[in-house]
Formats: sequence, structure tokens, C-alpha cells
Amino acid sequence: MLKLGVNIDHVATIREARYRGRGFGEPDPVAAARICETAGAHGITAHLREDRRHIQDRDIWKLREIVQTRLNLEMANAPEIVAIALKLKPEIVCLVPERRLEVTTEGGLDVVAAEKSLTDTRKRMNDAGIEVSLFIAPDEKQIAAAARTGAQFIELHTGTFAEEFQKAESGKRKAKMELLRLIAGAEQAHSLGLKVNAGHGLNYENLAILFRVPHLVELNIGHSLVSRAVFVGMETAVKEMLAAMKNYVA
Ligand code: PXP
Repeated sequence: MLKLGVNIDHVATIREARYRGRGFGEPDPVAAARICETAGAHGITAHLREDRRHIQDRDIWKLREIVQTRLNLEMANAPEIVAIALKLKPEIVCLVPERRLEVTTEGGLDVVAAEKSLTDTRKRMNDAGIEVSLFIAPDEKQIAAAARTGAQFIELHTGTFAEEFQKAESGKRKAKMELLRLIAGAEQAHSLGLKVNAGHGLNYENLAILFRVPHLVELNIGHSLVSRAVFVGMETAVKEMLAAMKNYVA
């Protein structure tokens, strides 16, 4: 069964828009995590960014206490955050690139360029009992390098696919090309023994097309769920997404 990891950063983004630096405020991403789990989500994803623009340290420690499913800590391969992760012991970390000026995580990791440091971090995490995922574009060289690091998972970056999918008919050709890259990437990763997750920009509309990608284990979805929750509440938003995901055949 295809699993859903809910990225709750966007709940913290709303809170920080009003209460930045105050140590309190609503909406509470931890309360959102509880609701997501009750609704059937298989995991909770939170990104502790170096600039702490949405999720705060207090959030991740509280999440560690209450999450009953799997806590996925998204993070840069930066010494400060690595040290926090090793103490926090989430079930899994997803290593992502981080740039201060980006609105959200924009590109995948350059695993080829950073193979050694990613392999070191992968070992330290695994030694602490934490699984490792690498967030990468569906690129043959990056996937091969990801396998060499010994990571358990990759998370295929679906941002380009989602972006092109949104565009008018002329853009759909590019969405199809990106879909083919995702399919090839998933097949390559699977053949190398990597488990395959996917995320970024996924929503209730583009999922059906994405389902042509084989071997998917988990989707990490945030923005579209939180957007839908504004109208129908978090529990219904998650249930609707889970219902849409039932049709996936690996
Ligand atoms: N996966 C990763 C690695 C991400 O950085 C993000 C964005 O926070 C997501 C998944 C979720 O993307 P979205 O919010 O567009 O659903």
C-alpha cells in the first residue's frame, strides 16, 4: 500500500507569519500532526531549516514525543542539524539541499558532488538507528551516486513534473517528459536496491498521472493538503488524499 507522509511545515508557516519569534501561536503543527495520524497518515514530515523559518526546535522535540507513526526529519546536511537529528532520533531523515532565498526546497541534492559527506552522514544516522533518504531529481547519475552512499531511500523530486502539469496544454508535453524521467528513475533506483519515495508539488489533481511511476513506497505531501484543510479541515483533507492514493499499484 502506498503510504502518505504529511509535511506539516506549512502549518508552521502560517503560525510564523503572525507569531515569528514569540515561542507560541496558532496554528500548532504538533496538533496538526495528531489530526493527520488520526486520519490515517502513515508518517509526519517536518523540515527543521537552518533559518528556522517555519518549524522551530520546540516543534520537533514535541513531535518526537507525540508522533506514533514515523517521524521524518527533513534537513540539510549541516553540522548543527545533524547533531540535533542524532539526539532526536526520528525514524528517518530526508537530506535536502537548502538555500536561504528559496521559497521552498527548489532542487534536488547534488549527490555526485557531495558523495563523501553524504556517505559520512548516512553512516552516522544508520549507526544511530535512523534510516536515510536523499531528495534528488530523477537523474541517472544522481541515483547511481545515491545508491553508492548506502542510503535506504531516495525521494524523487516531483516539483518539475507538478509545475509543468499546472501549465496550459503546451506545457503538458514537458510534464509527460518529466513523468518519463520519474518512471526511469524509479526503475533504476529499485534495481539498485533503493526504496523510492516521491514528493514536492503533489496534489489531488496530478496524483493520478504520477501513479504511472512504479515502485513508490511513500509520498510526502504538504502544501496541497494544508490548502485543502483551510476549506474542509485537516482530517478530511488527509482522508481525501488517502482515498485518492488507494488506486496506486506499484
Ligand atoms: N518533500 C520534500 C523533500 C520537500 O522539501 C517538500 C516541501 O516542503 C515536500 C516533500 C512537500 O512538498 P509540497 O509542500 O509541495 O507538497
